[in-house]
Amino acid sequence: MLILGIETACDDTSAAIVEDGHHVRSNVIWTQRDVHERWGGVMPELAARRHVEVMQAVIEEALSTAGVAFSDITAVGVNHKHGLLRSIVVGVSAAKAISYALDIPLVGIHHIEGHIYSNLVAHPDIDFPHLCLTVSGGHNLLLHVLRHGEYDLIGRTLDDAAGEAYDKVAKMLGLGFPGGAIIDRLASEGDPTAYDFPRPMINRDDYDFSFSGLKTAVSVTLAKAAKMGASVNQADIAASFQAAVVDVLVAKTLRAARDTGVSTVTVAGGVAANSALRQRLAEAGEKHGFRVLWPTLPLCTDNGAMVATVAYYKYQAGITSPLNINAYSSAPIGSREIVYKPGKRKRTN
Ligand code: KG4
Ligand code: ZN
Repeated sequence: MLILGIETACDDTSAAIVEDGHHVRSNVIWTQRDVHERWGGVMPELAARRHVEVMQAVIEEALSTAGVAFSDITAVGVNHKHGLLRSIVVGVSAAKAISYALDIPLVGIHHIEGHIYSNLVAHPDIDFPHLCLTVSGGHNLLLHVLRHGEYDLIGRTLDDAAGEAYDKVAKMLGLGFPGGAIIDRLASEGDPTAYDFPRPMINRDDYDFSFSGLKTAVSVTLAKAAKMGASVNQADIAASFQAAVVDVLVAKTLRAARDTGVSTVTVAGGVAANSALRQRLAEAGEKHGFRVLWPTLPLCTDNGAMVATVAYYKYQAGITSPLNINAYSSAPIGSREIVYKPGKRKRTN
């Protein structure tokens, strides 16, 4: 069964063809880095316009790379919940048009479900329940994944997501946007103990996060150095900042893994690409006896393949969507509401 998955939550336009839920025949991702770089954050209106410009070409490339025609597709899956509203509307409109024109089922999914299932794409054998840490520029969540389609949101950020903090610190250092991968690389040349940055909420007896204070601590350190005319070692700042972020992410995940008693922890979202996070979680898993999984790099960031895999499971369970489904910027997952915030990056600096 071939499913077309469409994802336009933020600044990546993506379409994928996935066969039987797990065989990725194509996963085309058109990044908009060139559009947003100069603003140091995602500009929602520009993101939506670029989605409109490239959506059709991205879908056609997904089909041709997979070597299939529109008539071979069984269903079309689309993220219609969680992201920048105007961006999501573009993907939803394209999916509705394809569903209507081909007379095939439409399957609407929640963006966070997509990230959860990004690990199921390559690992169909993941056991339930398991724990998923999903971290990007727009969200920072810990989910207890009970069974297919059933999630308990047990932790979330109270302010910034870790990826957002990465992007803002990179901007302070003049390193470009998005900053996560740049800081990750630079950190490998620095001393993680050079600056003693705070580990917000690390000792709180819950699974929630907060990264706004850490970002401010970096800003204050840079401002003090500038005032005194002192030079800072950028690699040391990057390494010390990354050490603080990873300490918190690992500590909270470990606490949640212990309390829920899961034997598998998955990591998803753009920050799942982080080398230090991967290494520290793998070590924690080995020490505490749980398996740690993360997706391949193209499946970490927003992509159509994860959407197609969720749609596959929903379709198999008889769940499809009417053609009048709406687009939502924020929608609950499990029993708790989450808010998508990448559009705020520019204003809060
Ligand atoms: O999931 P994603 O593509 O989009 C959303 O933000 O929803 O994630 C992008 C985020 C950005 O904040 C980026 O800086 C961060 O993921 N990121 C990383 C790394 N690669 C991407 N953060 C830390 N280390 C990385 N290697
Ligand atoms: Zn995402």
